[in-house]
Amino acid sequence: MKKLVFLTGAGMSAESGISTFRDAGGLWEKYPVQQVASIEGYYRDPELVITFYNQRRKQLLECLPNEGHRIVAEMEKWFDTTVVTQNIDNLHEKAGSSHVIHLHGELMKATSSRNPNDSRCITTLPEERPFIKIGDKAADGSQLRPFIVWFGESVPMMEPAIEKAMEADIFVVIGTSLNVYPAAGLLNYVRPTAKLYLIDPKPASAVSASNIHIIKKGAGEGMKELRQLLTEEI
Ligand code: APR
Repeated sequence: MKKLVFLTGAGMSAESGISTFRDAGGLWEKYPVQQVASIEGYYRDPELVITFYNQRRKQLLECLPNEGHRIVAEMEKWFDTTVVTQNIDNLHEKAGSSHVIHLHGELMKATSSRNPNDSRCITTLPEERPFIKIGDKAADGSQLRPFIVWFGESVPMMEPAIEKAMEADIFVVIGTSLNVYPAAGLLNYVRPTAKLYLIDPKPASAVSASNIHIIKKGAGEGMKELRQLLTEEI
């Protein structure tokens, strides 16, 4: 089976009702990213940050995977498929994708504030009580915090993601402005012989590479067109 790798961003979940970051009306217009999505912001006001992610977790539980998520999952029928996502939602998994690498963490998980990547401290929050509050403790006794990679923190899942990108026969970027590194740098590891596709209604200017096939559509419609293109060649 050919190896198919996706790199998805907030646009992947836009049709599920989750707002993007940098589109008009995006999340960062309402909440300054330094305040709610950086390690400095967490140290400055942990309660504000914990509340921000409690609100996003509550919103996520009202959202469902969209057509785009479902077709990405369906590609496992024809390809050895890996999804590398910048998204912290679990909609790829809920749609049935079985190999998902989260570069920026997972909203439904919580961890130690002393050592966020200590696997013994990473827990999944129950859907019936998807909240963290000041005073909740991780397994190491430190304050429980969201299992999110904040600006200013390392991105440990970049290693496995790079390995997958280097092996890809087909690499598909969906719904990301490619503004944030190291995630956006993943494109540089894709072999020149691999086929490159981009699905985005407003493709990022960063993607000037002439060898990329741009599908100027939303995730759902774009994945319908891509499924047609990729399965014709099987
Ligand atoms: N379908 C596909 N793409 C869409 C759709 C849609 N329905 N709607 C918007 N888009 C595209 C936009 O055109 C834009 O290119 O999704 C992209 C969203 O870009 P951003 O809001 O910058 O989101 P993203 O690229 O995922 O941000 C990367 O930045 O803030 C941090 O950690 C956060 O993971 C996030 C990272």
